[in-house]
Amino acid sequence: MPNTFVLARVLHVLGVVIWIGGVAMVTMVILPAIRRFEQPERRVEVFEAIEGRFARIAKVATVIVGLTGFYMVERMNAWALFGLASHWWLPGMVAVWLLFTLVLFVLEPLFLHRWFHEHGQSEPERTFKLVQIMHWVLLAVSLTVIVGVVAGSHGWFLF
Ligand code: HEM
Repeated sequence: MPNTFVLARVLHVLGVVIWIGGVAMVTMVILPAIRRFEQPERRVEVFEAIEGRFARIAKVATVIVGLTGFYMVERMNAWALFGLASHWWLPGMVAVWLLFTLVLFVLEPLFLHRWFHEHGQSEPERTFKLVQIMHWVLLAVSLTVIVGVVAGSHGWFLF
């Protein structure tokens, strides 16, 4: 394959590392640490400052991952593989990408940010628990897809 394909794969994986690595950091380190803060206002303030900065980085990464991903599918002429059970990780990648795109570009600016700001102050325990669970779900799905694509694209199919 010509080098533009390799370049696309390099940028794709770099985008995934920064984006999903950031999600892992927020889920496994930052959220549990913030939940131990005494004052609820401080929890909301610190989490919004961190998540706000990360959201900007994640937005750029999702755009790069999406563009390079679709470019690779087109170059490999792999559209037909989307229907094969052995290649479940192809629609899996698109599903993860769509989910994050929806959260970052639509739900967050529309209402998630406001919802978190209000409920994080009035019901801190419940809100942070819910946010933590949602982050674990997103991270678990993303990591499952990463395992599938790295194994599958190197010839190790689960079924
Ligand atoms: C629009 C969304 C996406 C499309 C169309 C897409 C498409 C692709 C394609 C065609 C490949 C090359 C597969 C092969 O060589 O057989 C690839 C590689 C890869 N993708 Fe995606 N992808 C997308 C989003 C994602 C997401 C969200 C993740 C992470 C959760 C991800 C993780 C990876 C990884 C880690 C590789 C490298 C696999 C390897 O070379 O070992 N992709 N992607």
